[in-house]
Amino acid sequence: MTPVSKRIAILGSTGSIGRQALDVIAAHEDLTVCALAAGRNAALLGEQARTFAPDCVALALEGERSLLRTELPEGTELLTGPESLTEIVWRAHPDVLLTAVVGTAGLAPTLAGIACGATLAVANKEALVAAGGLVMPAARAAGVDVLPVDSEHSAIFQCLAAGRRDEVRRVVLTASGGALRDWDPAAVADAGVDDALNHPTWDMGRKITIDSATLVNKAMEIVEAHWLFDLSADEIDVVLHGESIVHSCVEYQDGSMLAQLGRPEMTTPIAYALNYPRRRPCPGEPLDLAALGSLTFSRPTGRFADAVELGFDVIRRGGAAGAALIGANDAAVAAFCEGAIAFGDIVPLVGQTLARCEPIEEVTLEALLAAEAQARREVAARVSSRTVRTD
Ligand SMILES: NC(=O)c1ccc[n+]([C@@H]2O[C@H](COP(=O)([O-])OP(=O)(O)OC[C@H]3O[C@@H](n4cnc5c(N)ncnc54)[C@H](OP(=O)(O)O)[C@@H]3O)[C@@H](O)[C@H]2O)c1
Repeated sequence: MTPVSKRIAILGSTGSIGRQALDVIAAHEDLTVCALAAGRNAALLGEQARTFAPDCVALALEGERSLLRTELPEGTELLTGPESLTEIVWRAHPDVLLTAVVGTAGLAPTLAGIACGATLAVANKEALVAAGGLVMPAARAAGVDVLPVDSEHSAIFQCLAAGRRDEVRRVVLTASGGALRDWDPAAVADAGVDDALNHPTWDMGRKITIDSATLVNKAMEIVEAHWLFDLSADEIDVVLHGESIVHSCVEYQDGSMLAQLGRPEMTTPIAYALNYPRRRPCPGEPLDLAALGSLTFSRPTGRFADAVELGFDVIRRGGAAGAALIGANDAAVAAFCEGAIAFGDIVPLVGQTLARCEPIEEVTLEALLAAEAQARREVAARVSSRTVRTD
């Protein structure tokens, strides 16, 4: 089959996913970069622009804009400011939009990508968790493919190709357990930031690594699976799997369970999404099952179960609950990183805030962003008045 040339825009190109996506693109000559966007890292964005010569780049937050301007190759336009993430999508009209920023900054550009008819490669799970009720119907109406980049959802997407939707009994998301999984439960509550960042199997950005340690990342992934694959809470299960080799499974009505396996590296799901529907050769050692010997699975209990439950709670509540989860968790993680609360306070604080989330009359972008902001304020107020309750 002749390769189809694709123009790709990456939002969050200076981050962990963005940098790995550029490595994948560099290895495939039919994949080209038409736009790159970052938050503050002007130096790396400039370097990437000189290597990939995109039509335009965007620096959304404050950074060395003047330096960047002089460092861009001829023909590459510079956009700046928070709106530039969305403007760059309209300007570039990519074939594939890879959303790899952190938080709901990716939401408006995701909707712009759909309006442009771009295939979405979604790493930015927060956009789906907060606003899956807007993003997925818009994508369906526009006939746009939404391809998951998260390794668990990429695994489910691939396993779902083996049967019909009405033949699916449930999906099983696997969870590494994060940096503190082997800690004494009594000690976890007082773990420090460096402890939470010390992930045993995955090398990821800072925020998702802390979310992985609390397992709020798995709660988000439950909601992400709900929106991506139209699954009810009863059709989603979670197991702990410390080796991070089985990325997730789909169980069919006949009892067959299909799994996707691979090394814990994001280049595989990134390459799958960018090359979809083709599978292209990727560098790296093949998975050696005999060398692995055994794989382990267990049910989440204790603090793991509490965090996972947040995801099911969001699905059952509906409305703006996903946006409240994102806002509350963002604020709680920021407070933890600043030393204002303990690690063990994060999940209870998010749960208390989610429980206070008000129903909304209509799912609109404004209503969801307002719910996210309200949740942030509630967490900030509890942190400053020291009414965080961890019981
Ligand atoms: N890393 C993984 O292995 C992994 C796996 C699955 C899913 N994900 C998801 O992928 C997304 C990215 O994760 P990551 O680990 O790559 O994060 P990261 O390393 O922290 O990178 C985040 C990227 O987003 C940019 N950014 C941050 N805030 C921004 C804003 N307000 N406006 C514009 N750009 C902004 C950053 O720019 P600057 O650095 O220039 O400021 C950087 O390019 C997250 O949603 C995460 O949950 C990540």
